[in-house]
Amino acid sequence: MNSEPRAVDPQQMQALLDIAQAINSISQKEPLLNQIMEIAVDAIHAERGFLVLQEDSGKNLHVEIARNMSDTQVNEIRSPSSSVVNRVFDERSPVLLHDAKTDPRFEGSESIILQKITSIACVPLILKGNPIGVIYLDSTGDRQHFNDGTLNFLLAFANQAAIAIENARLIESLQDKNLHLQTELQKTFGFPEIIGNSPKMQAVFEIMHKILNSDISLLLQGESGTGKELVARAIHYNGHRKEKPFVAQFCGNLSEHLLESELFGHKKGSFTGAVSDKRGLFEIAHKGTFFLDEIADISPTIQAKLLRVLQEATFRRVGDTDDRKADLRFVSATNKDLAAEVREGNFREDLYYRLNVITITMPPLRERRSDIPVLVQHFLEKIGEKTNQKPKRVSADALKMLTQYNWPGNVRELANTIERAVVLASDNTITPTDLLIMQDDDQELQPKCLKDQEKEIVLKALEECEGNKTRTAEVLGVSLRWLHYKLSEWNISRKRSDEEEDEE
Ligand SMILES: Nc1ncnc2c1ncn2[C@@H]1O[C@H](COP(=O)(O)OP(=O)(O)O)[C@@H](O)[C@H]1O
Ligand SMILES: [Mg+2]
Repeated sequence: MNSEPRAVDPQQMQALLDIAQAINSISQKEPLLNQIMEIAVDAIHAERGFLVLQEDSGKNLHVEIARNMSDTQVNEIRSPSSSVVNRVFDERSPVLLHDAKTDPRFEGSESIILQKITSIACVPLILKGNPIGVIYLDSTGDRQHFNDGTLNFLLAFANQAAIAIENARLIESLQDKNLHLQTELQKTFGFPEIIGNSPKMQAVFEIMHKILNSDISLLLQGESGTGKELVARAIHYNGHRKEKPFVAQFCGNLSEHLLESELFGHKKGSFTGAVSDKRGLFEIAHKGTFFLDEIADISPTIQAKLLRVLQEATFRRVGDTDDRKADLRFVSATNKDLAAEVREGNFREDLYYRLNVITITMPPLRERRSDIPVLVQHFLEKIGEKTNQKPKRVSADALKMLTQYNWPGNVRELANTIERAVVLASDNTITPTDLLIMQDDDQELQPKCLKDQEKEIVLKALEECEGNKTRTAEVLGVSLRWLHYKLSEWNISRKRSDEEEDEE
């Protein structure tokens, strides 16, 4: 092999400039690593490669990204403790193998994959004198041998890559910390379990604070999942009745009889099935707070009885003649426009005014998008606590998707989406692929932006070409490089690389 010093390859020079630019422009770890692998593989005409980084928590080297290699292949190469990768990391010096088959370091290796490799270039990522990871590249073609020029280039490249990776890690950890602090901060001036800093939520908190210790009736209006029940509970548990019961009754589509007996109780024998005296919920909630959920649906008879409870603070069990005291604070909720129900004659006006001394209208989530990041963080931390694990994080593009989505199911839907994504995410970071289900729902509700359409078209073409990227690029009339770039932007390249491997 010719070991004379080589002139600097202009393509390699370009790659060095590219990575310098990447340092300045990519602050998120995942896209950055994608870019680094792409540049490394392209620049030295390697066939495949991967990059490992030392985990923050320990000595383990974690495979962050692979190009044209399946997980199994990566593992085969790096699993022996004496593997090239471990050696390069421990000794902090690069390794260049011109012919792996005949290299004494691989003697006796059973591995088929190692038998096929002709060239390996492996360099440490060194930061301030300490190794933080390794870039591994190889080639199986006889026509292509890596040389010393290759190695020099890779070393220079790795130095820059290490700095860029460290910066991206730092930025991510600062972003995480910032979100955590925002979530904590907002708990101190609001109600700890109700998350939201937006002006609309601040207006809600302001009214809540004013009426906390009074007994005036409160009507909560708002779409389903906006936090009406959460607010009702917060008012009770932060107010002067907090030592007494909080009782909630769902009033929507219940039979009149059942609801009446639940709320008021009944006397033995008052109707078939009333085999004994029964206390109603109004008695159970005495001196506490009563939450009437979906109030718009109650029947005229119950409306009349309820009016009496509100006006005179007394009530009777069904079939009874004794009046009983009901010292209650009423909070009711509806997702309907109760004033309109009154106008249409479905709801008593006098009852409406009794229930609705103060109204709080809960804003739908799409009208307070600035709260989405803190809500997401809140749910991640809650799930982390529940499962006794470090909370997962959300990648920048996934967070962008969450913030742009329309949320017809409001906070309840967001909470469910996050819970599902935590389960779907294969590692510690939730990426857009873990939110795909949500995207599907979204399609009917929002006109899609150009970017989403682009993604849809590309993925459809990829599927039609059975994962073959070269063919997909041809079909779409784009360069393979562009396709790789887009797939890595959407974090799809790793998941598809296995299929591609199979075709070769
Ligand atoms: N601002 C918020 N902060 C944290 N969690 C919320 C918030 N709003 C709603 N949630 C959660 O979303 C879910 C639905 O809220 P809920 O109060 O039942 O809504 P509604 O009664 O309006 O249908 C609950 O799990 C609740 O804890
Ligand atoms: Mg509800």
